[in-house]
Amino acid sequence: MVFLEGIRAMTLQLLGITKSFEQADGKSLVAKVVLKDINLTIDDREVVGILGPSGCGKTTLLRIIAGLDQPTEGEVLLDGKKVSRPGARTKMGMIFQEHALLPWRSVIDNVSLGLEIQKVSGSEREEKAMRYLELVGLQGSSHSRPYELSGGMRQRAAVARALALEPSFLLMDEPFSALDPQTRKQIQTDIIRIQEKTAKAIVLVTHSVEEAILLADRLVILSANPGMVRRILNIEMERPRDSMSRPFLEMRKEVLGLLGGG
Ligand SMILES: Nc1ncnc2c1ncn2[C@@H]1O[C@H](COP(=O)(O)OP(=O)(O)OP(=O)(O)O)[C@@H](O)[C@H]1O
Ligand SMILES: [Mg+2]
Repeated sequence: MVFLEGIRAMTLQLLGITKSFEQADGKSLVAKVVLKDINLTIDDREVVGILGPSGCGKTTLLRIIAGLDQPTEGEVLLDGKKVSRPGARTKMGMIFQEHALLPWRSVIDNVSLGLEIQKVSGSEREEKAMRYLELVGLQGSSHSRPYELSGGMRQRAAVARALALEPSFLLMDEPFSALDPQTRKQIQTDIIRIQEKTAKAIVLVTHSVEEAILLADRLVILSANPGMVRRILNIEMERPRDSMSRPFLEMRKEVLGLLGGG
């Protein structure tokens, strides 16, 4: 399987991203600043983990990166060009906490849905969908319906669906939080393998400090109210990483300290 061909280096830049939402406060609407002055450059093939307390704006940030929502101030640049709908979507693959597969479609038809919308021919659709199903280890379940799959298999199908569109960036919003620890471990290993094979840049929002240190090249730690970059940490450890090793445990302690406000 060759996945690297056709992949082009891309850089994603977040420049001064600020986002406010109008929220009801008794009888009037007030603007609540959710994200404030987020600056970040994400390089091609980089895995960036985003950590921060609940409500600090992680999902909002991913939606802005994907072009699903617009910042109040600042901009998102992809290779120096402004990201706005709908062009951004072809470069960004989103994977959400809930897999959101269509229950009436088979696994392969779910994976090829985006290609269908892009009017890719039937045979090419099937070939691509099978290729990505194989990559996530679901080739034997291509004709099953989502309800026949386990939670972990459904999440794998959602990963295959995002990959089938061959995005430059995979944006993941707590994709594995509903899985049991064993399945989660397996899928984390799969993500490392998939990332090595497909050379995607990944932006991973997670509440798990272990998961972030296991997978990311860089960690972005956000503070809340408003969501701001508190610290960016580079992770130099070789992969696969040992979560019991001293550097891993030291980093974990540092990150937990930052998240706890310490
Ligand atoms: N469409 C919206 N309208 C108004 N407020 C919103 C909207 N979307 C998000 N918010 C507010 O923005 C803040 C950040 O929400 P967001 O979902 O981005 O947080 P999060 O970091 O992803 O949280 P969690 O870790 O719980 O998923 C919250 O206070 C939320 O109420
Ligand atoms: Mg969220």
